[in-house]
Amino acid sequence: MVNMLKIGLLGTFLFLWACTQASPVELEEVPFSEPSYHPREEAVLPQEIIVPEPVPNPVPNPVQFCGQADHAGASILSDEEALSYLALVNRCQRASNSFEPRDLSPVNVESLRVRGGTHHLMRSTAARAVEDMFQEAALAGHRIIASSGYRSYELQTLFFYHWVSRYGRAEAMRFSAVPGHSEHQLGLALDLSTVEFAGGLYGAFITTPEGLWVRDNAHRFGFIVSYPEGREAETGFIYEPWHIRYVGVEAATIIYENNWILEEYLWYQEG
Ligand code: DAL
Ligand code: ZN
Repeated sequence: MVNMLKIGLLGTFLFLWACTQASPVELEEVPFSEPSYHPREEAVLPQEIIVPEPVPNPVPNPVQFCGQADHAGASILSDEEALSYLALVNRCQRASNSFEPRDLSPVNVESLRVRGGTHHLMRSTAARAVEDMFQEAALAGHRIIASSGYRSYELQTLFFYHWVSRYGRAEAMRFSAVPGHSEHQLGLALDLSTVEFAGGLYGAFITTPEGLWVRDNAHRFGFIVSYPEGREAETGFIYEPWHIRYVGVEAATIIYENNWILEEYLWYQEG
């Protein structure tokens, strides 16, 4: 009888303990980006993400370099401008809330953290370039993982406010673009990872053979590392060795050879 009581109490205790444990976060639900200075910390989704109303589209302005300028009053690209492979989104220029490229195509490479499918999406030219790049990386012995491609305005909003709720707005803005200001919405950006990092995005990607190979070869396929080391004052973002963006081979090669950011290439082009 005493033993039965003990078993009963133990069972009740175990049940109550289990109820207090948070359910595990599904990989697909883990947001796309980890800041490099919180390596390997497990992402936990907040109970409630408060998503504010989208800000109205501001008046268009010419392409400009705006460094740390505020997002308030940012100019907006027409959908035609946003479709250029050289379209610039930064703190003072962005795509419209409704911009969505029509030529999105699954990127047929090893992928993780995909929402609602098996592969990430990118604009078709960029997707084919990624496939070529992964193939050549594999021949060189590197196994790269695609971790986040096209993100709609709505998805970027969800991710951005997740990070705001976790780190506060100022800190979140150092590694997550304000909705409308992300190259992922252009369908031209892809985040990369490795098997070792299980698809997670870490600054330490650059210490891996895969990260080094990407740094030194992505331009040959038309990609730049948009947010290089030591350029936070201009780009607004910490070094993101995992984030590549398609601009075409010619522009990517010039940007790579000069250690430029896209704004500098656009200046140079304008003469
Ligand atoms: N992590 C980059 C800056 C983005 O959110 O688009
Ligand atoms: Zn990215």
